[in-house]
Amino acid sequence: MAAHNEQRWQPEQYRRCAPYVPELGRGVIDLLDPRPGDRILDLGCGDGELSMALAAHGCTVVGVDRSEAFVAAARQRGVNARVADARRLADAGFAAGSFDGVFSNAVLHWIREPAPVIAGVRRLLRTGGCFAAEFGGAGNIATVRGALHAAFERRGLDPAVRDPWYFPTPQAYRALLESGGFTVTGMTLFDRPTPIPGTLAEWLQLFGAAWLADLDRATRTAIVAEVSAAAAPRLRAAGGAWTVDYVRLRVRAVAG
Ligand code: BEZ
Repeated sequence: MAAHNEQRWQPEQYRRCAPYVPELGRGVIDLLDPRPGDRILDLGCGDGELSMALAAHGCTVVGVDRSEAFVAAARQRGVNARVADARRLADAGFAAGSFDGVFSNAVLHWIREPAPVIAGVRRLLRTGGCFAAEFGGAGNIATVRGALHAAFERRGLDPAVRDPWYFPTPQAYRALLESGGFTVTGMTLFDRPTPIPGTLAEWLQLFGAAWLADLDRATRTAIVAEVSAAAAPRLRAAGGAWTVDYVRLRVRAVAG
């Protein structure tokens, strides 16, 4: 059983419940604006859908992900992928300065320690190389997150130790990048209300696993029902379709 705060991924479930993640992340490739022949690291490559899109631009792509299941799925697509922890990129076996670009979509909000990630990305980029990323920014999924916090507090469980998410303000992330040796060339925080294919309960089974994994089945079921009921007035339309209140931070920075 997973400890609390530890997210586990199943590629098939991810593709079924969250096909919009790679679809909506394609804009980050435009932000990176890679040239044919560039060597690009896809940081948190998942099942490799966007790694392949980068390769279609003529780039040489290497994917890394902490999830063995995702790395296996990416390799099945033909991506050169390996298991690595974004906080410990120096252990991943790449030479310093060996990438022209680092790309990351929908990953960095899962890592509550941003400074070692930024240091690792800076080390891997050549001077002048580009880091382009999109992830949850301040206020992301506020309705769902607020309801989760309330459900855990009601049970005397501290939500702060379980909450796996990092949603920084543009100011905070800019400061981290600048102190990590980057010049920030783009930083946008924007609302992205996102229709999801199923129910919020299904969304929580996937994205809330780190919150719920170590609880017994009855408690998990009760929390999912409570969060769905609390969020429904804001996020569920009359016909039953759910739209989650995503807020994205889109970042471009050049290694100095
Ligand atoms: C996201 O912003 O993509 C996200 C954040 C936390 C959980 C699920 C998705």
